[in-house]
Amino acid sequence: MSLFRKKSIPDLIKSTQQGRTLRKELTAWDLTLLGIGAIIGTGIFVLTGEGAIQAGPGLTLSFVIAGLACVFAALSYAEFASTVPVSGSVYTYSYATMGEFWAWIIGWDLILEYLLAVSAVSTGWSGYFQSLLEGVGVKLPTALSAAPGAIDKTTTYFNLPAFLIVMLITFLLARGIRESKRVNNVMVIMKVAVVLAFIIVGVGYVKPANWQPFAPFGWDGIFNVAALVFFAYLGFDAVSTAAEETRNPDRDLPRGILYSLGICTLLYVVVSGIMTGIVPYQQFKGHEDHPVALALQMAGQNWFAGFISLGAILGMTTVMLVMLYGQTRIIFAMSRDGLLPKWFSNVHEKYRTPFGATWILGTVSALIGALVPLDKIAQLVNMGTLAAFVMISIGVIVLRKTQPDLPRAFRCPAVPLIPILAILFCVFLMTRLTQLTWIAFTIWLAIGLTIYFTYSRRHSSLNTQTTIHLDQ
Ligand code: ALA
Repeated sequence: MSLFRKKSIPDLIKSTQQGRTLRKELTAWDLTLLGIGAIIGTGIFVLTGEGAIQAGPGLTLSFVIAGLACVFAALSYAEFASTVPVSGSVYTYSYATMGEFWAWIIGWDLILEYLLAVSAVSTGWSGYFQSLLEGVGVKLPTALSAAPGAIDKTTTYFNLPAFLIVMLITFLLARGIRESKRVNNVMVIMKVAVVLAFIIVGVGYVKPANWQPFAPFGWDGIFNVAALVFFAYLGFDAVSTAAEETRNPDRDLPRGILYSLGICTLLYVVVSGIMTGIVPYQQFKGHEDHPVALALQMAGQNWFAGFISLGAILGMTTVMLVMLYGQTRIIFAMSRDGLLPKWFSNVHEKYRTPFGATWILGTVSALIGALVPLDKIAQLVNMGTLAAFVMISIGVIVLRKTQPDLPRAFRCPAVPLIPILAILFCVFLMTRLTQLTWIAFTIWLAIGLTIYFTYSRRHSSLNTQTTIHLDQ
């Protein structure tokens, strides 16, 4: 049983056409909206506050650096996605290129990204939602307003809004992609409209003097914040998890990834520039939870600040929707391959979704968000994702060597330069994460390895097939 046994790409594609199949109905437009739905959220609406405090107006540069890392990684993603249009994202692609063991590690990293990101975003959602409720005079009992230990010197037991929103999203996803897609598209359009409105209204209040000094904490501040706001870009990869439900994956998948990432990068740089142009960076202190709304309050646009809060709530809702969707599809793929129990890939007869898996994962994610204060976990989520990006970039280089003639609907330009740049950027950002994050990540990997060697290796469906080595 080789650790590096691989799936063949034609076999992978065949496996999506027989037996447990998913409905194919997404277009490039849907995928772009799916991407933006997953991308714009907590990063821009919440983390920019902390980012401005640590980097000053240089925050815009942090967004550029993190965005570049993602663009390089996205180009690699797009090549893979157009070659192996199968559910499961980089997990599946690496199964075909680097073998089962690496595929498992990557899949395990992605669980860290998607599942914990949903939980983390749900707590941010809950904060904005409660402030909106308070605006109309409704106050939740403190005990049900946050996870235990989340508020200093206050006893809390359960973050009820965070729990309920994730359960509602789980319900939508379990009912099927058609319903979820419609809800997602409407919310994404509203969210982008709110961000554009912020730009149009805010730009008139910018005082260029606030941009001086541009980098009060030097490159150190800018780089550290780049590693933090990297979180703001997470989600474009979720587009690739929808490959199997896309009508023309070869053409539409790369487009969906690159369009959504390009649009978001532009919006982030402009929004963070305007924010730090309105508010002197020191004044974000104490207002880290709602920096964008703060900028408008300082501009004297209070009513509009409330509107922005609504946009933030919608924004975070779609992030959770797509992230949880991506999570269920990755587990679906890992289970179909035998690396996780078969039960996770059972498809509901009527809804054609991984119904049981969706409910289980949604419930776990909702409980984590309700019971654990996850604000600080953004770093851990980033770590898992950066590690996966490094591996996928290696994968592009490997696949070009081992399978040069494989038809690729989209080719990453300047290979190996672009994948190497992706690796360098991602590793650099990883080095900027805290020691605690590295320890937590190591523990997570250790658990993953234990499961692989005690369960997955023995139950892999490759055990019953001829092992294929692409490089032979
Ligand atoms: N990019 C997503 C967000 O910022 C995870 O909420």
